[in-house]
Amino acid sequence: MFGKPKTEINTSKLYYGFPVIFLGYKDDKFKYNATTTSSSYSLGNTINVGIVSDSCAAKYIKKYKQFSVNVPCENLMSEIEICGFFSGHNKLQQADLPYTLGKYADVPLIDECFLNLECVVTNFYEDNGYLHIIGEVKRRVIFEDLVASDGKLFLSDEIQTVHFTGCSSKRIYRYLDKDNSSDLGSFVEGEVSNCG
Ligand SMILES: Cc1cc2nc3c(=O)[nH]c(=O)nc-3n(C[C@H](O)[C@H](O)[C@H](O)COP(=O)(O)O)c2cc1C
Repeated sequence: MFGKPKTEINTSKLYYGFPVIFLGYKDDKFKYNATTTSSSYSLGNTINVGIVSDSCAAKYIKKYKQFSVNVPCENLMSEIEICGFFSGHNKLQQADLPYTLGKYADVPLIDECFLNLECVVTNFYEDNGYLHIIGEVKRRVIFEDLVASDGKLFLSDEIQTVHFTGCSSKRIYRYLDKDNSSDLGSFVEGEVSNCG
């Protein structure tokens, strides 16, 4: 054994730092709605999100096969909790979150989120009470001041996303330190990178 001693942790869940997002969807009762989740990842034009199977979000995303991913910064903490605590409510209205409709998907794009992704469902599967949704990103919309003048570069060192961490006993939010970022490749020698 080398380094710090380790022990097993007895917990039913462990989040090691996932960005909090709003899933936006078409809703039969309120027209459009949003639910908070921290379970997502994106690779290329594919995005995977996870949500409990008996949530309204799961029901309507399965039905309409489209959704939006809306990424908030830390100025939207109460909105994050409203959309995460009030299952079945009209949460976009309750949290006072204005939105614009998507171009390729009939979903709400939350105006105050710095990034919105319009997505269509390509596949999903249910496992152990969770719905795992695989989507294709059709369009990305971002605050203008987060894009460099060439229109290509996303100024990702300026975003203040909220990260969900913890275990079944206690879960907390963590925030990014404004002045703490490093360029990809800063820690190895050489030019070649196969890192996405
Ligand atoms: C910070 C935060 C993160 C959450 N992450 C998830 C998650 O990853 N998956 C999930 O199923 N629910 C998650 N939730 C809980 C859902 O948002 C919650 O169950 C919601 O009320 C479901 O609403 P709906 O039934 O109207 O869709 C999270 C809630 C909060 C506040």
